[in-house]
Amino acid sequence: MLATLFTTLALLAGASAAPAPYHWTQQSNSSASWQKPAPANGTWLAANGTWSTPTPLCAGLTLPLPANQTVLAMPAGQSVTLATVSRGVQNYTCTNGAWVSAGALANLYDVGALLEATAPVVSSQKLTDGLAPLFLAAQPFPASNPPPTLQHEFVQTPQGLLPRFFDPNSNASVTLSKTGVLASPDNSTADITWLQLTAVDGDLAKSVFRLQTAGGQPAGGNCSDGAQASVDYAAMYYFLS
Ligand SMILES: *[C@@H]1O[C@H](CO)[C@@H](O)[C@H](O)[C@H]1NC(C)=O
Ligand SMILES: *[C@@H]1O[C@H](CO)[C@@H](O)[C@H](O)[C@H]1NC(C)=O
Ligand SMILES: *[C@@H]1O[C@H](CO)[C@@H](O)[C@H](O)[C@H]1NC(C)=O
Ligand SMILES: *[C@@H]1O[C@H](CO)[C@@H](O)[C@H](O)[C@H]1NC(C)=O
Ligand SMILES: *[C@@H]1O[C@H](CO)[C@@H](O)[C@H](O)[C@H]1NC(C)=O
Ligand SMILES: *[C@@H]1O[C@H](CO)[C@@H](O)[C@H](O)[C@H]1NC(C)=O
Ligand SMILES: *[C@@H]1O[C@H](CO)[C@@H](O)[C@H](O)[C@H]1NC(C)=O
Ligand SMILES: *[C@@H]1O[C@H](CO)[C@@H](O)[C@H](O)[C@H]1NC(C)=O
Repeated sequence: MLATLFTTLALLAGASAAPAPYHWTQQSNSSASWQKPAPANGTWLAANGTWSTPTPLCAGLTLPLPANQTVLAMPAGQSVTLATVSRGVQNYTCTNGAWVSAGALANLYDVGALLEATAPVVSSQKLTDGLAPLFLAAQPFPASNPPPTLQHEFVQTPQGLLPRFFDPNSNASVTLSKTGVLASPDNSTADITWLQLTAVDGDLAKSVFRLQTAGGQPAGGNCSDGAQASVDYAAMYYFLS
């Protein structure tokens, strides 16, 4: 288990050396300029001097949505631009004897390079099914190593407390609202719901899916009003544009 985690972290760390989630290729060697990133808007300066949008590593990824449900659905015209595994906490406050969600904090790690490197030997579905339980068991939170690709928090908005994701380097962000909720098909007592989120602000993504969750559900039974709880969790988050 630990050896697997170290291999995973090594691949994630390797991935973060290149500006995730984009492929780097040399356009030509007619000039000294390899493609250079413009971190603020994700375009590259091609060797011919024009700005172009690179192909994301996860462009062809199929979301691992459960069969026989219509609550979570791939939005028409969108595709996966970033696949991440997250590790964080779900916070709850006890209200009228029951735990009510009070936001969450998490670090998200780009797994595009890991998916690409392992594609010849393991399906993306099988690999991603295993990543959240692995990170829940073995990756601490908070932690600065490897550096997170994105960070997750909740923000107060006129529409209420909403999830937000941001790139700590560029400040690119997206704030979203819940448009689909499905009980975890694995273990809904232990694992938080699977979600479809739709952007209301920011241009980091048009949709975000939280799938393949591990942990995060509050303890069963009644609680005392005002009590607070932080429950460890991990999940896969997929970003679509
Ligand atoms: C690119 O550079 C390599 C090594 O410097 C050289 O061998 C090759 O001919 C160059 N290719 C082009 C298309 O200029
Ligand atoms: C991205 O930024 C570069 C450099 O500031 C600019 O030239 C380019 O037009 C921008 N591209 C887009 C799509 O905004
Ligand atoms: C410049 O290179 C980019 C990236 O390869 C390409 O998409 C674009 O069409 C090229 N533009 C011209 C004018 O050659
Ligand atoms: C989906 O529904 C069909 C028809 O009811 C059934 O044959 C199939 O086994 C179901 N698949 C799953 C994954 O539940
Ligand atoms: C969640 O709980 C943690 C403590 O586990 C705390 O540091 C954090 O500020 C809380 N975040 C939110 C959004 O409530
Ligand atoms: C991101 O936002 C923080 C806080 O507003 C600011 O200090 C920092 O300079 C910003 N970074 C970039 C790259 O814009
Ligand atoms: C689901 O998780 C709960 C809490 O951890 C555990 O008690 C239960 O045995 C699990 N159920 C299954 C089917 O694994
Ligand atoms: C839990 O709280 C509900 C609502 O306040 C109450 O009806 C129920 O009896 C409580 N259950 C226990 C085991 O205390």
